[in-house]
This record gives sequence, C-alpha cells and structure tokens, in this order.
Amino acid sequence: MAGQRQPVSDSRAQVKTPRESTKAGRRLRWLEVGCGAGEVLIALASEHPENDYLGLDVYRPGLGRLLHGLAERKLENVRILCGDSPSLIDRQVSDQSLAGVYVFFPDPWPKNGIINAV
Ligand SMILES: C[S@@+](CC[C@H](N)C(=O)[O-])C[C@H]1O[C@@H](n2cnc3c(N)ncnc32)[C@H](O)[C@@H]1O
Repeated sequence: MAGQRQPVSDSRAQVKTPRESTKAGRRLRWLEVGCGAGEVLIALASEHPENDYLGLDVYRPGLGRLLHGLAERKLENVRILCGDSPSLIDRQVSDQSLAGVYVFFPDPWPKNGIINAV
C-alpha cells in the first residue's frame, strides 16, 4: 500500500539470540549505537561482567568521558568505536556477532559541532 512503512531487509537484523550464543559457549556481545558518555554501558558492564559491550559514537569528547569512567571502575569488558554508525557497523561489526543492539535517545539531526568533531 502506498505510503505504508515496509520492514527493513538487512542481514544484520538476523543476529543470534542470546540463548543461541550462550549455547555456543561464547561471551555475549552487545552494541550500543550512539552511546554518548556511556552511562548505560558502564552500568551494564558493571552488572554483567560475563558479557562484552561495544560502544559506538561519533562524538569524541563523549567517548573520552566513557573511557575515563571505564578506567575509574577498572572495567575491561567494554570496547569503543568512534565514527559514523552506518559505515562503522558495515566495516567493523560482522554478521551474527551480536546478541543485541541498544539505541537510546538517538540524535539524527546533524549539528556543526558534531560534524566537525569527526
Ligand atoms: C541524544 S544523545 C544520546 C546518548 C546516549 N544514548 C544517552 O541515552 O545518553 C545521541 C548520541 O548519538 C550520537 N550520534 C548521532 N549520530 C550518530 C552517528 N551517525 N553515528 C554515531 N553516533 C551518532 C551523538 O554523538 C550522541 O552522543
């Protein structure tokens, strides 16, 4: 029907469920897109040391605060990617490598400050 939204067809959507990954004996890896200063990632990584987390953001000062928070808490189960999410996910995140993806309060409007920070 004209104007009706269609589901996105994307192989990245076919990630393994947490249960399947656990069966395979792997640590679960979760991605947060647009993690900002990483408040959520720090809380999750602290509560679930058995999991791995990947934070992705384009804004370096925010990621700097995340790195500081990780060092303060001696958390070693968070990795960081800095750059524009669509191209980074295509290049750096392999299909079926994630248990899930978090996106909280996405910020799709380009701002000069952010563009200049890349
Ligand atoms: C409103 S903030 C929310 C931050 C965090 N998720 C939270 O809930 O506190 C949106 C974040 O998305 C990031 N962002 C926006 N567009 C992005 C893009 N194309 N790739 C990566 N990060 C992006 C911004 O830099 C910003 O840190």
